[in-house]
Amino acid sequence: MTDTNFDPIILSFCCNWCSYAGADLAGISRLQYPTNVRIIRVMCSGMVHPNLVIDALTKGADGVIICGCHIGDCHYIDGNKKAESRAEAISLMLEDFGIEDEWFRIEWVSASEGPKFAQVMKEFTEEIINLGPSPYKV
Ligand code: FES
Repeated sequence: MTDTNFDPIILSFCCNWCSYAGADLAGISRLQYPTNVRIIRVMCSGMVHPNLVIDALTKGADGVIICGCHIGDCHYIDGNKKAESRAEAISLMLEDFGIEDEWFRIEWVSASEGPKFAQVMKEFTEEIINLGPSPYKV
C-alpha cells in the first residue's frame, strides 16, 4: 500500500555538459517536476563512483538517478559508457544491501531535452513513492 505522506528524497547526479543543461532548460521553460529531486552537478556521469550511490541509499536517500549525455555525446569520450557499466555493478551491489534496484536508475538526457528531464524526474519520483521509503531510513 502506498504511504500518501511519504515525501522521498531523490538525488540526481547530472553531468555538467548535457543533463545539467537539460535540467536548466526544464527550469527556464517553467516545466514542473517534483521538488523531491535534489540535483548534484558532476562533470561527467562517469565520475559518479558506485560508493556514492550506495552511500546515498544507505544514508537517507530514497532514490538515486544518474543522468548523462547520450551514448556517443560524452564530453570525455566514453564517460557515459563507464557509467553504464557501473550501473550494472551498482544494481548487483544493491542486492547485497537489501535494496531494490528500482531505487536506482540511469538515464541519458541532452541539453535540449528539458521536457524529457522533467518527465523522467516525474516518473522516477512516482516509482519511488510507490516503492516506499528506504529500509535504511531512520
Ligand atoms: Fe555528460 Fe560525460 S560529459 S556523460
